[in-house]
Amino acid sequence: MDKKTHDTVVVLDFGAINSQAAAKRIRNMNIYCEVLPYTASAERILALKPKSIVFQRGKQCGEATLGREPAADVAAMGLPILDMGAPNYDDNAMQDFFTQMCGISRDWTTEAFIEEAVESIRAQVGEGRALLAMSGGVDSSVCAVLAHKALGDRLTCVFVDHGLMRKGEPEEVARVFRDQFGIGLRSVDAEARFLAKLAGVTDPERKRKIIGEEFIRVFEEEAKAAGNPEYLIQGTIYPDIIESGWDGGKQVKAHHNVGGLPEKIDFKGLVEPVKYLFKDEIRKVATALGIPSTIAFRQPFPGPGLGVRCIGELTKDKLDILREVDAIFRGEIVAAGLQGSPCSQYFAVLTANRSVGVSNDARTYAYTVALRAVTTVDFMTAKFVKLPMDLLERVSEQITARVPQVNRVVYDITSKPPATIEWE
Ligand code: XMP
Repeated sequence: MDKKTHDTVVVLDFGAINSQAAAKRIRNMNIYCEVLPYTASAERILALKPKSIVFQRGKQCGEATLGREPAADVAAMGLPILDMGAPNYDDNAMQDFFTQMCGISRDWTTEAFIEEAVESIRAQVGEGRALLAMSGGVDSSVCAVLAHKALGDRLTCVFVDHGLMRKGEPEEVARVFRDQFGIGLRSVDAEARFLAKLAGVTDPERKRKIIGEEFIRVFEEEAKAAGNPEYLIQGTIYPDIIESGWDGGKQVKAHHNVGGLPEKIDFKGLVEPVKYLFKDEIRKVATALGIPSTIAFRQPFPGPGLGVRCIGELTKDKLDILREVDAIFRGEIVAAGLQGSPCSQYFAVLTANRSVGVSNDARTYAYTVALRAVTTVDFMTAKFVKLPMDLLERVSEQITARVPQVNRVVYDITSKPPATIEWE
């Protein structure tokens, strides 16, 4: 995207807990803005040619943020400054400040973004070819459609089916991209090789590592088969950049994102079409591009997939059981209209526990599944959703009636912290 065509606001983040909130509000006014740390040099700020600077101090959290002061040279730039620390500006007051005081035009729209993103991919890749790892999520889907508009057949999209996807997902993704966008995915059925590598492995972090590494191996092979395109298209999003930039955020689990940059393939360049967008902006772009809502509003799904929702060793049998149970639960959540809000993420877990039950007067000894639904904005903290009891009852009855390997259904009523969202 050629950001230079838009009037820009720079939000200086003083480590406030809601550091991205101001940026989102400003962008909602169709004004382009970027977030920089309060320690950013004058040079770095001026490189963006901002028309205004916003101080985002927000509420204090543990460490005092109000006491911090911007570098003296920021004040010396002579740009209009909006300090969010003191009065609580409403959107109208903010808008007046930007348009009337700073003369900023509100021209940063979804349509403008799409047009500029396509142009920018074309400019970067030139006559070259590009490769994209499609995960089926909204970020890589938007990248695929934008890159396909820009490059046509010079784009190769690879979908690695590691056998850890949800029920029907690989087929659905391939169908949507083929039928609706004319994008032929190279779907790689890699279930057998992933499960072979994972045989006997029970430690969650080992599982993540194996899945991440095997993904890269498969992707390298596909890159070779496609004649090693020069460019890699990646769905990096703005929060990844902001959060990895300066707060040294604590990480509880190693997040091996499927689609991570393979180290061994020598790409001439990395293309990141949505790296300045927040998640809700990507969903807007997806909708404008005609990507169906099942993908545009898909709940986050971890790179290692069901691999971290099937406790202990992974086998095809156990994964198939989990796929059935998970599909029943998700179906009921969607039927009740609870997806997105309040259920930011909702899924089933196949526990390693088996217990005694009774069916048709006979004793059973079968799996316990756990259902989990959480509300969260940033996925760093989350609250379990107080789902209606009659919904839980319906789900439980359907699971035990349709999946004979399961005789007990429990609902996870733990928030994060102290639990994490995923069980592994
Ligand atoms: P936790 O379990 O850490 O999850 O509370 C927070 C968010 O991150 C997702 N998650 C992952 N995503 N690779 C991913 O791409 C991973 O290994 C991974 N582990 C957790 C999780 O689904 C939730 O949205």
